[in-house]
Amino acid sequence: MKILGIETSCDETAAAVVENGSRIISNVVSSQIDIHARYGGVVPEVASRQHLLTIIPVINQATTGISWQDIEGIAVTFGPGLAGSLLVGVNVAKAIALAKKLPITGVNHLEAHIYANWLDFSSPPGEKGRVKFPCLCLVVSGGHSDLVLMKGHGQFEKLGRTRDDAAGEAFDKAARILDLGYPGGPAIEQAARSGLPCLPLPRAWLRESHDFSFSGLKTALWHLVHKGGVSVADVAASFQLAIVDVLVSKTIEAAKQLKVEQILLSGGVAANKTLTQHFLANSPVPVLIPPPHLCTDNAAMVAACGYYHFQAGKISGYDLDVVPSLSLG
Ligand code: KG4
Ligand code: ZN
Repeated sequence: MKILGIETSCDETAAAVVENGSRIISNVVSSQIDIHARYGGVVPEVASRQHLLTIIPVINQATTGISWQDIEGIAVTFGPGLAGSLLVGVNVAKAIALAKKLPITGVNHLEAHIYANWLDFSSPPGEKGRVKFPCLCLVVSGGHSDLVLMKGHGQFEKLGRTRDDAAGEAFDKAARILDLGYPGGPAIEQAARSGLPCLPLPRAWLRESHDFSFSGLKTALWHLVHKGGVSVADVAASFQLAIVDVLVSKTIEAAKQLKVEQILLSGGVAANKTLTQHFLANSPVPVLIPPPHLCTDNAAMVAACGYYHFQAGKISGYDLDVVPSLSLG
């Protein structure tokens, strides 16, 4: 079963065709990063207009060489995200569904991030059904830091979330303080390569819960930078390690408590090498990590998630609306 996935929740216009929830046939991502970088972050109005300009060429590219007869359904992100951006993807998906008489399913962007772990990203393709339930999912993106227990397809129980800044948001804000540009995650990771994590920065452990908090760390970084006398590379390395320490320790602690089979990483921050290395070195259970281009926003993960929706009979009507504050579990 081939599914067309469409993703426009933030600043990436993306379309992909995925077979049986795993085999990527095409995966096209048009990033607006260069446009938003000059403002230091995503400008919602600019983002939705850019989606409007690029969505049809992106879908055309993703479906080149594929017969519409072979596509059996459309999966589209309907939340969470920027309302004006989501509207573009959902409307286009509905129009195609109507024209081609295809079923449509609305996908939660956070659930889609998790489903990036079902995509065949090993070459040659790995064995199917690698994911074992129950598993613990850490979704770390620009807007979310969620720890979610997944007991089966579509069965999510949220254990923890961020109480303030998301992990990606913390990277973005720190990069702005350090004048490293946008998006901050890759910029901090790059700067950290030539530094040492030798500076004292706090970790909010919140031991009584599975929640996270990163705003205190950001404030501490601001004070450190404004006091002066420290190298940007050392600050970046110390800041990165502080976030990694908390994400890795708290997730592994929860994995032990809940006796899960696996840990599944996802979301843009899961592209961070220090984070993935620390997980692989410390986890008592296998850790699945999509390659960086499938951690950041893409439509292949939306199509993979949509496949399991269709399998479960979850089909949306033409009244599918966007839900900008949608959550998971
Ligand atoms: O999942 P994503 O592409 O979009 C959202 O759903 O938000 O995540 C984007 C976030 C940004 O905050 C970006 O700074 C962060 O992921 N990110 C990284 C890295 N690559 C992207 N953070 C740390 N290290 C990276 N290599
Ligand atoms: Zn995302």
